[in-house]
Amino acid sequence: MAKIFVTRQIPTQGIDLLKNAGHEVVVSSKDGVLTREELLAQVKGVDAILPLLTDKMDSEVMDLAGKQLKVIANYAVGYDNIDVKSATERNIIVTNTPNVLTESVAEHAIALILSLAHRIVEADQFMRDGKYVGWEPMLFLGNDLVGKTLGLVGFGRIGAEVAKRLYDGFNMKIVYYDTRRNEDLEKQFNMQFMELNDLLKTADFVSVHVPLLPTTKHLLGAEQFKLMKKTAYLINTSRGPVIDETALVEALKNKTIRGVGLDVYEAEPKMAEGLAELPNTVLTPHTASATEETRGAMSELAAKNIIAVLGGQPAITQVVLKYLINP
Ligand code: GLV
Ligand code: GLV
Repeated sequence: MAKIFVTRQIPTQGIDLLKNAGHEVVVSSKDGVLTREELLAQVKGVDAILPLLTDKMDSEVMDLAGKQLKVIANYAVGYDNIDVKSATERNIIVTNTPNVLTESVAEHAIALILSLAHRIVEADQFMRDGKYVGWEPMLFLGNDLVGKTLGLVGFGRIGAEVAKRLYDGFNMKIVYYDTRRNEDLEKQFNMQFMELNDLLKTADFVSVHVPLLPTTKHLLGAEQFKLMKKTAYLINTSRGPVIDETALVEALKNKTIRGVGLDVYEAEPKMAEGLAELPNTVLTPHTASATEETRGAMSELAAKNIIAVLGGQPAITQVVLKYLINP
């Protein structure tokens, strides 16, 4: 019987699968992120770890766990919390949860776009504050999506689903930047590939969908914000450090860009000073994949990856090292 450590309570689907497969499952009883000491104390002797994106999985954790550790099944699609190189050197398989959360995250990015364009959050606060005294021609003027240009920075699974919905459903023009072109989808969504700087100059809405890598850290900072239209909105549902958040607050204060919708932050759970006071922001607490359906599916997929690897089978969604070096 293999021993599996789950670093936090997650939806029960996956836990049940692991138990039904005959494994011993230890779920952290703490209602919160484990401290480094707590994590290190609990990984010793386990065959599999099911961590969250907030748990740093480095060589120290792997060595402390011991040579029997075979798989780290991240409860996230992003795996910047895992040292995949060290895992590979130790023959530890790393898996993530792609596909099952693609649509949920795409919907959330679009929810942020719509909230900004139609000023939903500001207007909601206005109602609650009892400030509505009668219909006004100029009250909370926002923007339509129809006819506007969406710029996708990163065109993986999630970016493609955002493009599909906003092209088919909202009649937006789509431009994108990635390290690879996708000529099939360019045709399908009548979409134009652009270098990043050109995209920033062109787009009315810039939505970020890249993984966090050394090459994507602070991909967008003061210089890039200056290239954007003064009327442009920026949306990030990927990873916080892709954006220089301090520079972003400055850009919003100086009206270099019009507004921002964020689900992720540079130093989560903290926010850059001043961000929360700005009216032209819509902020969610890293909940883009937080639907009952998706979080359940993530739990199942993480468990199935563990069951496969411990059973001597290939993982279902293994993280492959080459994507780290040459994204
Ligand atoms: C969430 O941010 C994830 O990577 O799944
Ligand atoms: C991540 O899931 C992506 O490919 O966008």
